[in-house]
Order: sequence, then C-alpha cells, then structure tokens
Amino acid sequence: MKRMKTIIEPFRIKSVEPLRRTTPEEREKFLKRAGYNLFELHATEILIDLLTDSGTSAMSTNQWAAMMRGDESYAGSESFFRFKKVVDELTGFKHVIPTHQGRAAEHLLFEALGGPGRVVPNNTHFDTTRANVEASGAAALDVPCAESSDLASDAPFKGNADVEALERCLASNAGRVPLVMVTVTNNAGGGQPVSLANLRAVRAVCERFGVPLFLDACRFAENAYLVQQREPGLSTRPIRAIVRDMCALADGCTMSAKKDGLANIGGFLACRDPELARRVRQSMVVTEGFPTYGGMAGRDLDAIAQGLREVVEQDYLEYRHASIRYVVDRLSQRGVPCVQPAGGHANFLDAARFLAHLPRREFPGQALAIELYLEGGIRSCEIGSVMLGRGDECARHELVRLAIPRRTYTQSHMDYVIEIVSRVWERRERVPGVAIESAPAVLRHFSARFRRTPLRAASASKPSLRSAR
Ligand SMILES: Cc1ncc(COP(=O)(O)O)c(C=O)c1O
Repeated sequence: MKRMKTIIEPFRIKSVEPLRRTTPEEREKFLKRAGYNLFELHATEILIDLLTDSGTSAMSTNQWAAMMRGDESYAGSESFFRFKKVVDELTGFKHVIPTHQGRAAEHLLFEALGGPGRVVPNNTHFDTTRANVEASGAAALDVPCAESSDLASDAPFKGNADVEALERCLASNAGRVPLVMVTVTNNAGGGQPVSLANLRAVRAVCERFGVPLFLDACRFAENAYLVQQREPGLSTRPIRAIVRDMCALADGCTMSAKKDGLANIGGFLACRDPELARRVRQSMVVTEGFPTYGGMAGRDLDAIAQGLREVVEQDYLEYRHASIRYVVDRLSQRGVPCVQPAGGHANFLDAARFLAHLPRREFPGQALAIELYLEGGIRSCEIGSVMLGRGDECARHELVRLAIPRRTYTQSHMDYVIEIVSRVWERRERVPGVAIESAPAVLRHFSARFRRTPLRAASASKPSLRSAR
C-alpha cells in the first residue's frame, strides 16, 4: 500500500477527560499564589499540561484489561512473573527488580555502588540521577558530546557521550568509577538520542577499564526509533532488535516505566550481575518492599508489562515522533529557537535565545515558562539554571521543555501550543526576568519561590512589540 503523508494517531478515543479553561486574570492570581513556580499549580488551573511526559500517558484498553488480571499476592505474584518475562525478552537482563519509579531504582543502584570518593560519569545526568549519585557521597560527572552544545545544529545524535572525555575520566580516576551511565534519550540534553555506534565506543572504553555500563533506559524505545531512522544501515531493523542491540552493550539499566513503560507509575532496576542483584534485593525491603512487587501493586506490574509491549510498536513510535516533529518544525518556521533536530519526547525551546534581552542570572527559562502559562494556560518545565544550576553557577543551557505526554493530546492541541508559543515570541522583548526568593538545597526547581523582576527600560520600550494577551 502507498504510504500516506498524514501520520494519524494510531488509536481512537474511548474515554475522555475534560480540559479546564481559565482567564488571564485567574492565571495571574494562581501564579502569585504558587510563587511563580509551575510545579505548585493545581492541575485544575492548567489547560494543556506539558510539564512532563512522566506518568502522564494514556493507557490502552489492553493495559486497563491487564490491570484486572493483577495478582496482589505479597510475594511471588503472577503479575511479577509476567512483568519479568516482558523485561527479560526486551532487554536480556537476567535480574529484574521492580521499583516504584525510576529514582527508586537509581537510589538502590547508587546505594550499592556509589559512595564517598567515587565518580559516576554519564552523557548527562538527569536531576534525580545526579541527586541520587550525590546523596551516596559520590560525584556526578557529565560527559556530553561536543555537538550537544550547538542547540541549532542538525547533528543526528546530540545525546551521545564524549568518548574521549569519558576515557580521560576513567584514566584519572582509576579504581574510583564504580559504573558508567548513558541516558537514552538524553533528557537533560534536549531529548536527543544516543547512537548505537556511540554506545559501542562507550562499551569498549568501559571494558578496557573494567567498569560496568548501565543505561538510564527511561526512553529506550524512543531512542531505538531515532536510531532506526537516523543511523546508517538500520532503517529496516525492527525496533525490538535495536533495543536488544542497545541492551547487549550494557550490564544493566535503571528504568522509569512512567515514560516508555506507558504507565502512570513504576520502574525497575535490571542487571546481569547476580551479586549486585542480591545486595539490592536485600536493601530494597526497607524502602520499596518485597523484591517481587517493589513498591507497586500487582496491577501496576501488569500495566507496565503490557505498556512495554505496545511502546515498541512501529506505528506507535512513528506517530509519536511525527507529533513532536510537527511542533518543532512549525515553530522553527516562525523563527522560534527550538533545539534541533526534534528529539524523542519533547520540544525544547532555547530560552536564552528566545528571551535574548534577559541575562542568564534572571533565569530566562523560568521566565518563558511563566509567560507560556500566562498566555495560554500551558504548563512547561524549565530545564536550565533553576533546575541544573548551582548557587550562582549557570547550567549549560537555558531550555524550556514542552514534554508531550504519550497518547494524551491530539494534533489540534499541538496547534494550540504552536499558536501560544508564537504569540509569546511576537512580544518576547516585554517578558520580564525572575529572581529566586527562596529555594531548598536539593532539587530546588520543585519548590523554589520566585518573583518577577522589573524590565529594564531599554528592553521594555522596544517599539516592535504588541501585546497578544
Ligand atoms: C532521564 C531520566 N532519568 C530518570 C528519571 C526519574 O524517573 P522517575 O520520575 O520515575 O523517578 C527521569 C524522570 O523524568 C528521567 O527523565
């Protein structure tokens, strides 16, 4: 059959959830109450919620049906064995340990392998990974590839690790690196994929230094799809085979099933090393629960097992990427600075270029996220100096992530997002910066409070702007 140009959502809708509209005045009031922190808003105050793609997927009829089969036995439930079988088949990792979400798997891994004096390199640590490495007393080191710093370039694998930097790290920290991590796709680095060639090169370095390699596999299927589409010679290789190729190069993974598990909660740690698995199973009883349920209900394990089957379907991944690309392409055509090329799960706006009149210390990412909410009730997430900066030190980039929940919004919702971002773009020079009023020491983006800073006269008086509100 001739391939159609329009890639439609490969599902129809059986159950709907109302969206809630608010006025600009209401949004202003909600934001003040929330200390200009979008994490503090109530869901009822949001029209399109692009804060995260984590735990926000719509489940399929087969997932809901699977939940009814959930076996709630405390130990050795059937749900666990169904879950383990699917993970085994997908990854080839022998030991599968369920956890209530990805960060719990990270906590268990670094509790076992981290510790003071140790160094854990990663292409780019996500914030929870970094927090868990550091909570163990170890240092978290990012080794992103050079291409990743040019947000506008079209390089296909900007999520790659810098293999030479990794090698230097391993050489200068002999005996102090308990594992290397590679995050697929690289969320903090713009949702960009990691190539199989890069994973192979990282693996070779790890082998030379005798250090295990773990994947942060939250978005393994989206990474596999982008490998299939972009890596030479792989365009006909099935997604499942590419997933196996990725996992064959690793000794284990941490996983948040809230992303490519297509579930609303859950995760796992999987590995080949029986001794590591034994230690983790022993310690997890204190925080996660018995090793065959790991902080989840049996029905959650079944929902994830089914979700993991669906997420590697070619049709699903094709539609998934088409909807991300649609937003990135249309915004880019209007001149909006977006991270290029389109990544796996989100559209990342380059807030430093979008709000070029704001100095980095005025947090352009947070300022832009606030403005998108005020303009159209869209909630996004700053991934810049609020989330990843330290004290006065800025992050590498000032990004605003419009994360697209899986199977949740339709193309007309995406058209609305394009319209709102474009309207803010047209009056960008009138957007004020923000200052932090109070913040906790760790993971400050979740609960910091902000105030908006007055616009300096030079930028406020630019004549080319018009208010779109
Ligand atoms: C790359 C990456 N790693 C780890 C996590 C943590 O997963 P969870 O939210 O399930 O704890 C996330 C969550 O957003 C992530 O994006």
